Amino acid sequence: MVLEVNDIVTFYGQSLVLDGVSLEVDKGEVVALLGRNGAGKTTTLRSVMGLTPPRSGSIKLLGIEIVGKVPFQVAALGIGYAPDDRRIFPDLTTEENLLLAGHLSKRKNGDWSVERVYNLFPVLRDVRTRKGGFLSGGEQKMLALGRALMTNPALALIDEPSEGLAPLMVAALAKAIREIRDTGVTVFLADQNVRFCRKTADRGYIIEKGTIQYQDAMKNILENEEIVKKYLVV
Ligand SMILES: Nc1ncnc2c1ncn2[C@@H]1O[C@H](COP(=O)(O)OP(=O)(O)OP(=O)(O)O)[C@@H](O)[C@H]1O
Ligand SMILES: [Mg+2]
Repeated sequence: MVLEVNDIVTFYGQSLVLDGVSLEVDKGEVVALLGRNGAGKTTTLRSVMGLTPPRSGSIKLLGIEIVGKVPFQVAALGIGYAPDDRRIFPDLTTEENLLLAGHLSKRKNGDWSVERVYNLFPVLRDVRTRKGGFLSGGEQKMLALGRALMTNPALALIDEPSEGLAPLMVAALAKAIREIRDTGVTVFLADQNVRFCRKTADRGYIIEKGTIQYQDAMKNILENEEIVKKYLVV
């Protein structure tokens, strides 16, 4: 197993947000975490990354317990995180953003390079000298994912990759995520867009009110009208 989350309970201050979340991601899978606004998707990813540490429960990366580790330690152990707010440097160019992510990473031994990120997202090559702050929303999403890949992760955590993207961009991103998977990077993503998840993910978990309500192969989830109606937005 690449990622094993077992019964995590996470708070923001006094408010309980994750009430016992458990899930698993196996090597070579793309797994989606689906659910409506405020269901707890981002908080789950932040818990894994150590940004909002759980109060109880266990999270294992490749068999190693990571609860209690700070984000840079989690990154060094092999998780690349593309947050929903992108966190790219607005005054650095696309290329500088990518190079810096690689430079700051403790994981130098890997195949990812600026050239490889450009091959995955040709759009980024076209804007390589443009400052991050002047990229479109879609370009910023791709850059955030490119930055995560520059750390040579075993597992990529991607928050809302399809949010705000034009349909053509969504299709390109789904294809790119499959390609990332084919290079050996396991992917765990959170997204509200069921159709995007169907194109991208092998399996899905549905979260609602901070608890996993359902899990299945992605194709079964989309075919299950009752589940879709109850928990998702199409
Ligand atoms: N920084 C915070 N402080 C307090 N409460 C928060 C904070 N961030 C999120 N929450 C609350 O935690 C719950 C889960 O939020 P979370 O961001 O994990 O949901 P989400 O599934 O990612 O939603 P979205 O689809 O809108 O991104 C929500 O009720 C939200 O209001
Ligand atoms: Mg979110």
